[in-house]
Amino acid sequence: MTETIRFLMCSPDHYDVDYVINPWMEGNIHKSSQEKARQQWQQLYHVLKDRALVDLVTPEKGWPDMVFTANAGLVLEKTVVLSRFLHKERQGEEPYFKQWFEDNGFTVHELPKDLPFEGAGDALLDREGRWLWAGYGFRTELDSHPLIAKWLDIEVLSLRLIDERFYHLDTCFCPLSGGYLLYYPDAFDAYSNRLIELKIPEEKRIIVEEADAVNFACNAVNIGQVIVMNKISDDLQHNLAAKGFEVVQTPLTEFLKAGGAAKCLTLRTTEPLIPDHHANVTIESRILQLEGHLLDAGIMNKALDVVVGNGGSFKVLNFTLGIERQSTSSAEVRVSAPSHEVMEEIMVQLIDLGAAARPQEICDVNTAVVAQDGVAPDDFYVSTIYPTEVRVNCEWVRVENQRMDAAIVVTESPEGKTAKCTLLRDLKAGDRVMVGVEGIRTIRQAESREQRNSTQEFTFMGAGVSSERRVELTVEQIAWEMRQIRDQGGKVVVTAGPVVIHTGGAQHLSRLIRDGYVHALLGGNAIAVHDMEQAIMGTSLGVDMQKGIPVRGGHRHHLKIINLIRRHGSIAKAVSAGVLTKGVMYECVKNNVPFSLAGSIRDDGPLPDTEMDLIKAQEEYSRLIQGADMILMLSSMLHSIGVGNMTPAGVKMVCVDINPAVVTKLSDRGSVESVGIVTDVGLFLSLLTQQLDKLTRPLVETV
Ligand code: ARG
Repeated sequence: MTETIRFLMCSPDHYDVDYVINPWMEGNIHKSSQEKARQQWQQLYHVLKDRALVDLVTPEKGWPDMVFTANAGLVLEKTVVLSRFLHKERQGEEPYFKQWFEDNGFTVHELPKDLPFEGAGDALLDREGRWLWAGYGFRTELDSHPLIAKWLDIEVLSLRLIDERFYHLDTCFCPLSGGYLLYYPDAFDAYSNRLIELKIPEEKRIIVEEADAVNFACNAVNIGQVIVMNKISDDLQHNLAAKGFEVVQTPLTEFLKAGGAAKCLTLRTTEPLIPDHHANVTIESRILQLEGHLLDAGIMNKALDVVVGNGGSFKVLNFTLGIERQSTSSAEVRVSAPSHEVMEEIMVQLIDLGAAARPQEICDVNTAVVAQDGVAPDDFYVSTIYPTEVRVNCEWVRVENQRMDAAIVVTESPEGKTAKCTLLRDLKAGDRVMVGVEGIRTIRQAESREQRNSTQEFTFMGAGVSSERRVELTVEQIAWEMRQIRDQGGKVVVTAGPVVIHTGGAQHLSRLIRDGYVHALLGGNAIAVHDMEQAIMGTSLGVDMQKGIPVRGGHRHHLKIINLIRRHGSIAKAVSAGVLTKGVMYECVKNNVPFSLAGSIRDDGPLPDTEMDLIKAQEEYSRLIQGADMILMLSSMLHSIGVGNMTPAGVKMVCVDINPAVVTKLSDRGSVESVGIVTDVGLFLSLLTQQLDKLTRPLVETV
C-alpha cells in the first residue's frame, strides 16, 4: 500500500554551502564534507525507499541547493505550483524542476515574476487533507497564497514566520497523520498561533522545545505512523511514541549547515486526492490611495512598513511622482492581510498616515448604535489628533471637536450631517458611532519637504549630545513666535509641573505671565503649592532657593502653605489679603490669567483651588485650551499628556523636559508642529525671557 506514496529527491553530487541566504549558512561556507553529505543522503534515501517509491531528478552543476527538492514546487494530485525563488542564488533551479514536472505529467502553474513562493518548503498539507497551511514572512509572499488556493482549489491558512532561523514553514511545522501537529510556536506571530490553536485541538498539538527545533526536529517526513527526522531528544521521541508514532532518526548534520534536513531533502509527489476540498482564502485585499510628499517625507516608507510590520503584503498599482521640488506624489496601493482582523489593524495605522480607500467605493459609513450610555459599540473607531473626515451618506463630513481617543458620533437630519468627537463617558444610548475603518480619512497637511523633519528634539543638558547653540536657536524661534502670537491677540497655554519651581524657573514664568505672554496655566496641586511656598517662605519642597540646600524642618513648609491658603479660602483670596505677593500664582491672579489645577491621588491638602473631581478637571482643561495657538509643556509629563490628548493637530507644542524619554513621548505627534527640548526647565525659561527681552529692545542700540 505504501507503494502508492512517492517522493522526489536529488542526489547531492553538487551540494555544498556556497553562499549565505539563511542564518544557518553563515560561517559554514565550504564547511560541509562532500563524503559525509553523500553518506547521510544515502541513508535517508534508503529509509524512505523501504517505505515508499523515490524518484530522482538530475542534479545540476552550479545549483548546490537543488538537493532540497521540497522547494521544487507544491504538488496536489497532478497539479503543481512551481516555486519562484526569492534569492537569485536559487532561481536557476526553477527550469530544471519545471522540466521534471512536465516530463512526469504534471500540470504546472507559474506565479508572476517577483511574487516569490518556495514550494512545499512553505506550504504543507494537513495530513487529513482538510486544508493547506502556507507560510510567509521570509521567502514566500502573502499575495501568492490566493493564487495557490485558486489553482489547487483548496482552503489556505496563512501563517506568518517571525524568527529568521525558521525561514521556511517546514523548518518549524509538521502536520502528522491522525490530525496531529508537530511544531515550534515561537517561530510564529501571535495571530498565527491563535489560528493554529483554533484549528488543532490541544491534545493534537505536539510542541517542540527550542533545543529540538534548532536540530530541525520539525523538518520531518511523515509516512503513515512513521516519522523520519534528524537526531532528536529522548523526551520528544517518547512524546511521539506515546502518540503512536515510530520515529526513525537519521543524521543529517551536513545539510543542517545549509539550513535543511529530512523534509527539505524530499518532495512528496503523491498527495492524496481529497474528495471535497474547495478554494477558500481568508486573505483580504483593499485598494488605498495616498497623496503628499510620499518620498521626501518618508510617507511611502512608513506606509509600506506598517503593512509588512503587521503581517500584510502590498502591491503598488501605480505611483505618480511629483516632478518639482514642491509637487506632491500620489500612489495607489493594494494591501493584503491574512484576515479581516489584521486588515483593520493595518488600516487604522494607514488612516493616520493619510491613506484612504477610493471614495467612490464607499457611500454609507459603517456605524453602530450605542446601546448603553457611556459605552461604545465594539470595534468603534478611536479618533486621533488629525483632522478627520467621515463618509456620511456618500459625502465627506468634517469631524468637529477633533481630539485623540474619542468615538465619532454622526448625525443626519434635514439641517445637515454632522460628525463629532465624543468621549466615551458622554455617549448616549441611541447615538450612531463610527465603527471599523471604512469611510474614514485623515487630512494630513502637505508638509513641505523642508519641514519634514521638524519633529525635532534638541538636547541641552542631556548626556552626550548637548548642543547649546541649537537650543539657543530653538528658543530664539519660540520667543519670536510667542511675541507674534501676543501681538496678534493669540493664545499661549502653559502646562507646568513643580520642577519649574524647583529649578528656579518661577521668576521667569512669573515674568512671562506679567508681560502678557501666557493666557492660561494648567497644572496640578504641586506647582501651585511649591510656587507659593517659595514666594512666602523662600523654599521649594523645603529646599532654600537662594542657597540650594534643604532647610531644617523644610519638608513641613509646603503643608504650612496649603494650610494657610485653606484658611483664606482660595489663592485669589490670599492675594487680596496681601498674604501672597509674588510668584506664578500671584501673577495669574493679578493679570486675570485663568488657571486650572487638576488633582491627583498623591496630593497633599489639597489647595482649595485644586479640582479633585477629575472629570470636571478634564473639562476645565479642555475649555482652557480651546483656540490655543501654542502650548508650552514644562516638565509635567502627566498634565502634558492629558493636554496632548485633547489638542487637535495644528497647535504648536513645545515640550521641555530634562528626561529625553518624556520629550520624545510628548513631541512625537508625527507632525511638524511639535518641538521637543531636552534641558533643565529653569534654564530654558531663563533663556526664553532673555530672548523676549531682546525682541522688545529698541532696534538701534547705543554704542
Ligand atoms: N539553503 C537552502 C535555502 O536557504 C535550504 C533550503 C531548505 N529547504 C526547506 N524546504 N526548508 O533555500
